[in-house]
Amino acid sequence: MCGIVGYVGNDDAREIIIEGLKKLEYRGYDSAGIALYKDGKIQVRKSAGRIANLEKLIETEDLHSTVGIGHTRWATHGAPSDVNAHPHSDMANTLAVVHNGIIENYLELKEWLAKEHGVVFRSETDTEVIAHLISVYYEDDLKEAVFKAVDKMRGAYAIGVVSAKEPDKIVAVRKDAPLIAGIGEGCNFIASDIPALLKYVRRIYLIENNETVVVTRDDITIYNADRQPVTRDVFHVTWDADAAEKDGYEHFMLKEIHEQPKGLFETLNRRLDDRGNIRLDGIHLTKEEIQQFTKIYIVACGTAYHAGLVGKFAIEKLAKIPVEVDVASEFRYRDPFVDDKTLFIAISQSGETLDTLAALREAKSKGARVLSVVNVVGSSVARESDDVFYTWAGPEIAVASTKAYTTQLMCMYLIGLYMGYTKGTITEEYYRHFIDELRMIPDKLKEVLKQEDSIHEMAKGLYRREQVFFIGRGVDCGVAYEGSLKLKEISYINSFAIAAGELKHGTIALIEQDTLVISLATQDRLFEKMLSNIQEIKARGATVIGLSKEGNKEIEGQANQVIYIPECMDEITPLLSVVPLQLLAYYIARLRGCDIDKPKNLAKSVTVE
Ligand code: AGP
Repeated sequence: MCGIVGYVGNDDAREIIIEGLKKLEYRGYDSAGIALYKDGKIQVRKSAGRIANLEKLIETEDLHSTVGIGHTRWATHGAPSDVNAHPHSDMANTLAVVHNGIIENYLELKEWLAKEHGVVFRSETDTEVIAHLISVYYEDDLKEAVFKAVDKMRGAYAIGVVSAKEPDKIVAVRKDAPLIAGIGEGCNFIASDIPALLKYVRRIYLIENNETVVVTRDDITIYNADRQPVTRDVFHVTWDADAAEKDGYEHFMLKEIHEQPKGLFETLNRRLDDRGNIRLDGIHLTKEEIQQFTKIYIVACGTAYHAGLVGKFAIEKLAKIPVEVDVASEFRYRDPFVDDKTLFIAISQSGETLDTLAALREAKSKGARVLSVVNVVGSSVARESDDVFYTWAGPEIAVASTKAYTTQLMCMYLIGLYMGYTKGTITEEYYRHFIDELRMIPDKLKEVLKQEDSIHEMAKGLYRREQVFFIGRGVDCGVAYEGSLKLKEISYINSFAIAAGELKHGTIALIEQDTLVISLATQDRLFEKMLSNIQEIKARGATVIGLSKEGNKEIEGQANQVIYIPECMDEITPLLSVVPLQLLAYYIARLRGCDIDKPKNLAKSVTVE
């Protein structure tokens, strides 16, 4: 995600745009920039880092203007840097573009522009292509040039454009990325989201998909997909600024739980080519390299480590290579066996976790090939890896990781499938079946999210608990660890996860009357074993909440309450089963009055040992 803001009016565009961008930093914050019309030219200033860096860059310069656009970036193509920051200009610097989204066919457009129009590119971004396209098509009408440019583009985008040739307007387009227009007095706005404008206006137009909007200081004209002017009702914003940043959700964590279907869709579908084959951009493992791996380590911390626990099952089953999962703080001090036939997979949302970074360096020093699964483009882990596989979850603000975890799982499956298919350890039929099953997950996840109210009700009976156990077998065990961490880190309840088969080797001594045990039983081939474990703990008085696939009615006779998830392949149930546990942890913590987005003692990125 990125944030875009535009203003045209009679006041200082620079200040208004900068203030608007600050309100959109939750959408991305690795670089920022602004384009202002001044003295007959479009002046572009931009810098890596937070918006404060941009402010410092321009604070002493006379850039007074009444029209401009700005951008705060969440990098997807091209690391965060001054040159990759938006806005991007055409070669003659007559216009500038800000963009939120991804231009899927940017490489072919880039080749065409270079070959047919001699365009020389300055950045690594997909966005720069848009600026050159509009310039190539510009004759005497900016709107028409934008129409022609977007007709060549494929992907998801919300763009804003200013031109020195028509300095009284902003042209913006929406396709599968949010865009609004703000209605002022003698001024008008565009933005990605409401928070950017709340300080100035509360009357807005919600721009719909495939629509274009032309904004001047006195007028806002909306054009539909057929390029015909349309009327639009005014939307009156009643939210306060804080609620608006959370898109109306009470906490970023709940917002991010609900963003998971989109994150999974983005992480999966942008890596499938037109024939449905996996195309892992950013990973350059050849068939020979994959075939020579004799061992894979998956190393991470916290939630990312729990994603590795599930990844082990996926990669071993699909690629038939032994996988060892370890917490980074342990891996780096146990003198692990690593050689040039080792693949080291680091998983990290922030890409800045020192333990993970140190473990990566240890493996690299011993000759391992390093592949990282990271959410923050250009982060330290990404930069120090040989190959990077980005989770396209968008910025994750809440300390408790949710959408990063499920998109990390998706990356585990894709890596396993890619390696298995490349090695020939899975059949074409199984490969396609697995991918078809993954494609159905975002919609199935939306079905799971519809249980939010019932899980909230369940939490009302549980939030006073001071101890909770999570058990499971196979991939359910990995999810049990993640469900337990979610609960403990935001509700401060002492929760504990253990492999269900391990209970009888000691831990069952803790089970007594009304001990709460959340029992994951989604694996068909392990279901009977799980029922036995549930019977064991019920016999000792435990209260059991079961979690299983729709149709497993047997569990209702054993558990006190049951949460169901939609039917899917056993291997990929973690993509669904973790979500009820995220919601349960959220509502229990909310009922306990905890600071959900910023839990005590915790930081979003642990950059110390
Ligand atoms: C997850 O909810 C926690 N906030 C924490 O365990 C986190 O997953 C861990 O610190 C790893 O962070 P990373 O993914 O940014 O490396």
